[in-house]
Amino acid sequence: MIGFFDSGVGGLTIAQPFYQKTHLECLFFGDSTHCPLGEKTDNEIHEIVKSGVEKLLLAGCNLVILACNTATAISIRDLQQHYLPLQSFSEPKNILGIIQPTNEAILASCVLSDSVSILATPATIHSGFYQRELEKLGFKNIHGVSAAELAKTIESDDKKLARQIVREIFSDNHTMIRGSKALVLACTHYPIIQNIIQDELINIDSKALIISQSNVVVYELISYLQRHPEYQQTKGSFRVI
Ligand code: DGL
Repeated sequence: MIGFFDSGVGGLTIAQPFYQKTHLECLFFGDSTHCPLGEKTDNEIHEIVKSGVEKLLLAGCNLVILACNTATAISIRDLQQHYLPLQSFSEPKNILGIIQPTNEAILASCVLSDSVSILATPATIHSGFYQRELEKLGFKNIHGVSAAELAKTIESDDKKLARQIVREIFSDNHTMIRGSKALVLACTHYPIIQNIIQDELINIDSKALIISQSNVVVYELISYLQRHPEYQQTKGSFRVI
């Protein structure tokens, strides 16, 4: 069984298309009591993510996907390198993040000299994870755009306020966004308001291509499962805890 963790509904933009494509048994945990994750300290985020992951592993998942950029940026290394090796499970288990496949999608859509804007939570931007990984790939013009309050507003389904927040962020960063070849939606909540983001890009006269994670992460996860038969999956239902 595959577990998906996020701080709320955002992770469904990954988990649902994955289930629709594969019908493999899935368990989704959107820890909305701790939303917004991206506005907490790294230590707080790490504790919340670790306990969410533990919940999914104990429920029987042999693969847990951090369907959350903030969780991936802050915790994936520690979970894979320190937390997992200390556990004693009777079958192989793993935890995967979603930033690496996103970076591959950026590489496929842009050339290394392009300017790319990363729209993400304050914690994701502050971690420098995207900036570092993309610079390792050879990109030189990566700009982090921190979107305080946006994930929380999407979680509470306030579209009007979400539009206002996007408009303010784009107006504060309009030169950088207008000069960008791509705008990466680096928070799984943002595809829920992709049409608003597209409208607001047009409003600042930006032709940036929107890179959204759903398809690329689903594709990468299916390919990972084919390459790793040790994390065997069976067909089943999509459940939420
Ligand atoms: N959906 C999450 C992400 O991809 C985080 C939202 C939050 O701040 O809780 O970063």
